[in-house]
Amino acid sequence: MLKDDKFFWFKENRIVIPGVKGEHLFYHLTDSHVDVVDELSTEEEREKFDYQAELWAKYKKVFADKNGEPYGEPQMITTLEAFEKQLALAEEMQPEALLMTGDNLDNMHPAGERYLPKRMAAYKGTFICVPGNHEDPVLEGVWDTGVRTLDYDGFRFAALDDSRLTVSSEDLAALKALCDEGIPIIILCHAPFQTAYNKETMKDLDPYFYFTEESEDENARAFIDLCVTNDMIKAVICGHVHGYHSLEFAPGKPLIIGSQGHAGAVDLVTVAGE
Ligand SMILES: [Fe+2]
Repeated sequence: MLKDDKFFWFKENRIVIPGVKGEHLFYHLTDSHVDVVDELSTEEEREKFDYQAELWAKYKKVFADKNGEPYGEPQMITTLEAFEKQLALAEEMQPEALLMTGDNLDNMHPAGERYLPKRMAAYKGTFICVPGNHEDPVLEGVWDTGVRTLDYDGFRFAALDDSRLTVSSEDLAALKALCDEGIPIIILCHAPFQTAYNKETMKDLDPYFYFTEESEDENARAFIDLCVTNDMIKAVICGHVHGYHSLEFAPGKPLIIGSQGHAGAVDLVTVAGE
């Protein structure tokens, strides 16, 4: 079983939404930072690839040590090998959907932009994906602009781009309209946010990784306020931090921050009625 591969390490998360029937299993993958080269890659692109590979060989461990997470021989593989393993495991486990919350590619690069849409088109299952701060707002066939939804019986995911530590006015309006539909929502985005409620539990995180209620950006503040105050928004699933954290951003509202997928982190998220 691929699940027994020492590369992987798992966190189990549960989101309770009253009224949801049965148990719904999702596979959350974030910060895969995939770098690839192919036969069309230029010399310059190959040099960048080598540079990034060396950089991540070091920083994967830095993040793992900082967050007290596993890092050893099994995690010392390329970002491409790691991503292929993650997708193969997701295909084996067959969750109801694969949730990818950004920094899927290490940066926008031609070989990566050729590889990822092709690989995701071949993925055997449902996936939904948002961009991270290392990426552009659109990668055709993988992620797109706007608030995109995935609907289940009694709840829905709403995926949006907050990778620049804010959201667009269009996305904010679309999210408000979704809230008015009266279906419980789990937000999928890249960066977490800090509220008065989770200030203490987030105090060890580098402020680089999140935005706050004190942001100078009006939309950032309005997005946080909507998430905190609207009863339809039940949870937020994100990444960006390269360390796992399970918090609440408001009473009873989970903030699940997945760790670095390229170092074997897998978040299993069960959504259930109780
Ligand atoms: Fe990242």
